[in-house]
Amino acid sequence: MAAGKTAETRSVDVVIMAAGKGTRMKSKLPKVLHCLAGRPLIRHVLDTASGLGARSAVLVTGHGAEAVEAACSAAGGLALKLHFVRQQPQLGTGHAVQQAVPVLPDDGVVVVLSGDVPLTEADTLRALIGLCGGSKLALLTLALDEPSGYGRIVRSANGAGQVVAIVEEKDASAAQRAIREIYSGIMAAPAALLKGWLERLDNHNAQGEYYLTDIVKLAVADGVEVLAQQISDPLQVAGVNSPLQLAELERAWQLRQARQFMEQGVRIADPARFDVRGSLQCGQDVAIDVNCVFEGAVCLGDDVRVGAHCVIANASIAAGAVIHPFTHIDGEKAGVRVGEGAVVGPFARLRPGAVLGEGVHIGNFVEVKNATLGAGAKANHLAYLGDATVGQRVNFGAGSITANYDGARKHRTVIEDDVHVGSNCVLVAPLTIGMGATVGGGSTISKSAPAGSLSVARAKQVVVSGWKRPIK
Ligand code: UD1
Ligand code: CA
Repeated sequence: MAAGKTAETRSVDVVIMAAGKGTRMKSKLPKVLHCLAGRPLIRHVLDTASGLGARSAVLVTGHGAEAVEAACSAAGGLALKLHFVRQQPQLGTGHAVQQAVPVLPDDGVVVVLSGDVPLTEADTLRALIGLCGGSKLALLTLALDEPSGYGRIVRSANGAGQVVAIVEEKDASAAQRAIREIYSGIMAAPAALLKGWLERLDNHNAQGEYYLTDIVKLAVADGVEVLAQQISDPLQVAGVNSPLQLAELERAWQLRQARQFMEQGVRIADPARFDVRGSLQCGQDVAIDVNCVFEGAVCLGDDVRVGAHCVIANASIAAGAVIHPFTHIDGEKAGVRVGEGAVVGPFARLRPGAVLGEGVHIGNFVEVKNATLGAGAKANHLAYLGDATVGQRVNFGAGSITANYDGARKHRTVIEDDVHVGSNCVLVAPLTIGMGATVGGGSTISKSAPAGSLSVARAKQVVVSGWKRPIK
């Protein structure tokens, strides 16, 4: 231990076991890359390790190693050093942690986690590290009514009830199988001691595997104290082995998030039908109806109302705006901004670079991409505004579009303040419609129009009096 470091401030190194196959997922994708709340399972574990202030994380990969390593290397924002080691073949959890030994410093506390257990909280791990105290072996345990399949915590028969072993289900006697206290798969151990125990593991057991859990017996034999931190929240140690378990953890996580938002005052119509797959920020008096999905970074200002069945991604919605039902917003990298008091939808689509000013109205079946709309502009029905600069108070008629693409390049349409574009118009970019100009309905406009002008570009009406329709 470095001079001056107390047990509590000792550096933490995390080992994350992620070499298993995940057979029951029946997927081409390695199990730990399946997403929970929009983030791969392994990313949740890495974020927890990072939030814990761990110095490093060693990821033990095997099945799908390249894909897992690539996904983790690409993950930004981690405040720890990331090491990859491969376990080939997979000979058990003890063998998995053995692979990490060469990159683990001797002076730290090692926390062992699994890449498929996403919801462990940093505070739980902090308490476990505290219990380890740099000198003991600390196990995270849980009492379950249905303990089958798990390793059981065997305690001494004397009154002290010291932990003396973990026995795996397949190796357990009938009496041991009746034990309800199980090992969660998470432990904290002083690195130097752990390394010594790992060297002494064998595979003389029912499964012919090197069990990490056998280090408990070795610690006891060495006179090292083994302590159990028993928690009561099974979600924190729940692993994902199947699509059903993934969905169950997803719902549990979402419910937890919904509760936190509701505690802040957000009115969520049904917390069971609410999904945040990224980061959501809400002002005061925000109301969110059922079945809304928020992805990436989304910010909702004070008094924003979101109707049912909206998908909103990478967007900032200013105070008082109303997003009506079935609206799809995705700003991707460029973002979307909806101004104060704007009204969007129902059935509207806002794409990257849509910037709506104060009080803008975007109605049903209107698509906006890379376009700025000035305060009070309206496009209420069946329209496309792409690569456009639209002034204040512009009224863009039903069925009108900006034709921004000539087959090779995109061009910009500029519509100045107070322009009125009638229904069913095509504005062939590039062009500018000057301030206050009017475009007659049904026009295909390919030349700029000066301020204050009227442009009409459509076939003249023909009237045939007394016309007789063909009859059957
Ligand atoms: C393990 C524990 C058991 C505990 C249970 C909690 C052992 C021997 N047993 O059970 O006491 O109750 O976790 O869920 O440790 N892995 C590898 N390489 C391997 C084997 C496993 O990386 O060779 C990874 C898996 O991908 C998984 C994790 O280790 O992420 C746990 O493996 P799993 O097979 O689920 O654990 P069990 O042995 O069933
Ligand atoms: Ca398991």
